[in-house]
Amino acid sequence: MANTFEYKNFTDEKNYITLCSEVMAVRARGSSPLACIRTYGCQQNVADSEKIKGMLASMGFGFTENAEDADFILFNTCAVREHAEDRVFGNVGALKNIKRRHPSVIIGLCGCMMEQKHVTERLYRSFPFVSLVFGTHSLHKFPELFYNTVTYGGRVYETGVDDMTVYEGIPTLRDGTFKGWLPIMYGCNNFCTYCIVPYTRGRERSRRFEEVVSEARQMIEAGYKEITLLGQNVNSYGKNLEEKHTFAELLSEIDKIDGDYILRFMTSHPKDCSKELIDVIAGSRHISTHLHLPFQSGSNRVLKAMNRSYTREKYLDIVNYAKEKIPGVSLTSDIIVGFPGETYEEFLETISLIKEVEFTSLFTFIYSPREGTPAAKMDDPFSAEEKSRWFSELLKAQEEISARRCAAMVGSVCRVLVEEESKPGILSGRTSGNVIVEFPGDKSLIGQFKDVKVTKARNWILNGELA
Ligand code: 5AD
Ligand code: SF4
Repeated sequence: MANTFEYKNFTDEKNYITLCSEVMAVRARGSSPLACIRTYGCQQNVADSEKIKGMLASMGFGFTENAEDADFILFNTCAVREHAEDRVFGNVGALKNIKRRHPSVIIGLCGCMMEQKHVTERLYRSFPFVSLVFGTHSLHKFPELFYNTVTYGGRVYETGVDDMTVYEGIPTLRDGTFKGWLPIMYGCNNFCTYCIVPYTRGRERSRRFEEVVSEARQMIEAGYKEITLLGQNVNSYGKNLEEKHTFAELLSEIDKIDGDYILRFMTSHPKDCSKELIDVIAGSRHISTHLHLPFQSGSNRVLKAMNRSYTREKYLDIVNYAKEKIPGVSLTSDIIVGFPGETYEEFLETISLIKEVEFTSLFTFIYSPREGTPAAKMDDPFSAEEKSRWFSELLKAQEEISARRCAAMVGSVCRVLVEEESKPGILSGRTSGNVIVEFPGDKSLIGQFKDVKVTKARNWILNGELA
């Protein structure tokens, strides 16, 4: 199948960036305008915020963590679970007082929540001080939308657009100087029945192979030591490209670039996780030995109702192949407890799967109905209390597994990218398998790879010393 989407280079035809910088130079409360950007949800949102910051920096903005000081406050929102949405609404409500104290501040919302009609209707009704609202498909138009908001004085809403274009060349201001996100594709075609993402981020579109490889090369040349390739389902990368490429080929091409760096990726979907991919990881120079492979449920009936397109047996097949080919492979997963109609017996199949695989760690969620998804219309007979009891049971089972896996690492020497000073004199970083290690050391080591001898395990965190 040929491309069903287009590629365009980001252009600012009417010079909105310059126009915004002129207006904001006058309007700013301080000597230069300040923006406070808050990002909720997944790494894709973090990567989107880095583009928004890139555009704002081109307009002359500096950045602040303190909303009180800002001339522009933007929340980049997440719609994946109800809890995430509630937090956003709560925090937006709190901005009302800032707007009262500083009437010139511009308050905006963007991201996945803004692609849901019931959300934008509620915002329009209840939060009149929010003057800029745009969805995930309008990121490239941010300078124009921002200019319109600043000059028009009313509310600018741009949502519900379904744009099948991949925009290259949007200015990006990365949060980190040695760890960076690299989006390789956007959207998702899987329509897992519980998930809102295909509705908020649209159809799957892969970036061109050469663009991704060249951005990875630029990052490595700029000194990035950890690059994480991002997509909702990286294993289906390239399916719609005119010139066919697989994700395994992409990884293997980037891995050929010389340099001292580690290459990570997320998220993998088990239905598209090929043995070819595992072989590439096994034979690579830079790819982490960590595979985040969400299985969601250990019951074949529930997996079918979730539209996951694989079985427990197929999942175990891939996992066993990875264990055989990648020595010490570290596996992690996402799990949903309490999908509509899931019985306790079916939930126990999830417990038995985690015991069989022995994951390093898990991201666990209680099912949250999302308006507009098929699962939200399914019968959901079990109570929240019951689901919460199962959830605790799952956490307890995994705690034992994580503790055992970490304890088995005591005595080994791991190569760790030093990330931060977690307490005075104590550094922390992650192993290739993505396990956190803390050890004494000087903060001048941040951003470097160091060998660390593991001396102790504390549940899912390791303690060690420089080797
Ligand atoms: N309810 C609970 N968890 C969800 N996830 C996605 N949608 C929902 C939902 N409606 C979880 C899945 C996914 C992770 C990113 O979030 O486990 O892999
Ligand atoms: Fe959601 Fe499924 Fe797509 Fe992941 S693969 S983003 S869970 S629809």
